[in-house]
Amino acid sequence: MSILTNLTRMWLTRSFKPFIFTNKYSQTLDYINCDKLGLYVHIPFCRSICNFCPYCKYIYKKDLYNKYVDSLIKEIHLVGNSTSGRKKITSLYFGGGSPAMSIERTDEILDAIYSHFIITDGMGIEIHPDDITDSTMQTLYNLKFTKISVGIQSFNSKFQDILKRKEFDSNQIKSVLTNYSFETVSIDLIFALPTQTFEDLKNDVEKALDIGANHIAIYPFIDFSFTASNVHAMDNFDKKKLLYNITDYFYKKGFVRTSIWTFAKSDAIKYSSMTRENFLGFGCSATTLLKEQFKINTFSINEYCKRIDKDNLPTSLTINFTRRQRMVYYLFWTAYSTQINPTDFYDFFGVTLEQEFGLEIRIAKMLGFIVEDNNIYKMTPKGAFYYHYYENFYTLSYIDKMWGIMRREAFPDELKL
Ligand SMILES: C[S@@+](CC[C@H](N)C(=O)[O-])C[C@H]1O[C@@H](n2cnc3c(N)ncnc32)[C@H](O)[C@@H]1O
Ligand code: SF4
Repeated sequence: MSILTNLTRMWLTRSFKPFIFTNKYSQTLDYINCDKLGLYVHIPFCRSICNFCPYCKYIYKKDLYNKYVDSLIKEIHLVGNSTSGRKKITSLYFGGGSPAMSIERTDEILDAIYSHFIITDGMGIEIHPDDITDSTMQTLYNLKFTKISVGIQSFNSKFQDILKRKEFDSNQIKSVLTNYSFETVSIDLIFALPTQTFEDLKNDVEKALDIGANHIAIYPFIDFSFTASNVHAMDNFDKKKLLYNITDYFYKKGFVRTSIWTFAKSDAIKYSSMTRENFLGFGCSATTLLKEQFKINTFSINEYCKRIDKDNLPTSLTINFTRRQRMVYYLFWTAYSTQINPTDFYDFFGVTLEQEFGLEIRIAKMLGFIVEDNNIYKMTPKGAFYYHYYENFYTLSYIDKMWGIMRREAFPDELKL
């Protein structure tokens, strides 16, 4: 598996050099000249822990939450103070964990953000089904969140059992959601679970629409090596069939594909957890992608708070890109949207996409993975499946390794991928 990702990396970067992450980090982040910058805030608290979940999360305790939020606010100022004035950013996204279960101090976090940034394209937040209550929704609405993303996974008790998720009352969720007009109501579903059929997945999608979703994310189940889950994803042949059938179903209903995993009722409804070209991440485990570097914060809350107490950034690992590596990162992240605009690539790098990746584009066209439409490269359903497939390899050989190490060590010396 890692042979495939290594060969791809060598081919695309035209180099044998691996991606090398080290513990050397910079105290100032050079984001001021980054166009299309997104912000991400990580709130790592949950009521209980799901054993299939790979994210950085802890059981909620009030003291720990308060200590964490104090540090988070300080991190935002440490980064924001490095420039004067307020920088325009596209969107702000709160992920976790279950960020909507602990919103006591979300207004303070937002004030810290607003003192350095101006948000132009709205704010989103992840919500556990247990947090769909009138009081939480009202607070989020008052705070001007425009997009919510609810982690349903499945409405079917069979799959809730497989994932060991608690049942919830979908009628209650529906009746609460009808009281609020969030621009985007997105629902996360997991597919490729053992024995799952197209009918099962279709019923989940229909139920999601019935309770008020106008946007749906279908994530392929990933069996991370460091999680305690004993659930295995279905084999690739069945997964491919399922993905083709559900994509076809969405298209027949007139839905638009907004990213590799997401479908929306109309073009106007966009939902992305982050802007893909450049982003700043705050909080433990949050990642930052800028013009010349990618960095990831420590996964340990204690070490995160300790670093910040000393006015230092909580960066655990950083990679300073070669130009070619940055191009590959750019393509990998922007391809999630299922399209690549050569003009944006040119604006970012000052060279044409065709000049740098002409051969790859020709091959992708020949294999039917992409088509050119109005000077934009768009992924076909076949291309999207193989991207899913490759992303799965990438997740299992790169993310799995990185997160596995970072869960054990707060500040590893070096990581080669
Ligand atoms: C941070 S989590 C969820 C938010 C919220 N805490 C909840 O559980 O509803 C974001 C999403 O990642 C997806 N996810 C988590 N673990 C996954 C896995 N092993 N494979 C695929 N998707 C996963 C789920 O769809 C989940 O809703
Ligand atoms: S799936 Fe959601 S609730 Fe479960 S552990 Fe992950 S973040 Fe927490």
